[in-house]
Amino acid sequence: AFAATSHRPLHGKHILVTAGPTHEPIDPVRYIANRSSGRQGFAIAAAAAESGAQVTLVAGPVTLETPQGVTRINVETARQMQAAVEQALPADIAIMVAAVADWRAADQAEQKIKKKGDAPAPLELSENPDILAGLASHDQRPGLLIGFAAETENIIAHAEAKLARKGCDWIIANDVSGDVMGGMSNSVHIVRSDGVESLDTLPKEQVARLLVERIADHVAQN
Ligand code: CTP
Ligand code: CA
Repeated sequence: AFAATSHRPLHGKHILVTAGPTHEPIDPVRYIANRSSGRQGFAIAAAAAESGAQVTLVAGPVTLETPQGVTRINVETARQMQAAVEQALPADIAIMVAAVADWRAADQAEQKIKKKGDAPAPLELSENPDILAGLASHDQRPGLLIGFAAETENIIAHAEAKLARKGCDWIIANDVSGDVMGGMSNSVHIVRSDGVESLDTLPKEQVARLLVERIADHVAQN
């Protein structure tokens, strides 16, 4: 029994993961999006499932296969992602890896917008809901709420500011100044109110396993 538990340290936990970009349509053929392959989020969902958790993966538009044992919900826009996340509650742990588009087109054209005149049509934007901040103040707030922050400079300082601003428990600060976007490796820092742990640059699968280990340690201590 001991061996079974130690290999499946997250057994009995429901873990919610978001991954990939969101697409915000402008018209039927164009959209606004962030650069995101979804690989890191899918690897975390896979590692959590391997650790025995029940995993719900809310995925934006990506071309990845669903990891074994993971329940996947596909969405396109930030607002759909928020609705799917709230539908999936309650969760013990939420890990928001998705690169959510901060803005969407204020109006979505029903027909393809045509070039006309000399100047391009201005694009009016509206701000999307902050899914992570919404979970932080939700009455079914997950016991452990983890955000990701892709940064190109002042990585730790930006992550610490986000930790405070968003009301989550940890921020995984992702150094995207190099060749991380769409790549197979990742360089992350685990930023918590009590300190920062920097991991080596590692394949995304290995980053995922280490993060899930840290989560299992946290669960064991709380
Ligand atoms: N996030 C979210 N909903 C949004 C934007 C971001 O849930 N509308 C989540 C992301 O999934 C991530 C975390 O918030 O876990 C940080 O995202 P990031 O884009 O770094 O934060 P922002 O507050 O949008 O700040 P920035 O201006 O740097 O983009
Ligand atoms: Ca953002």
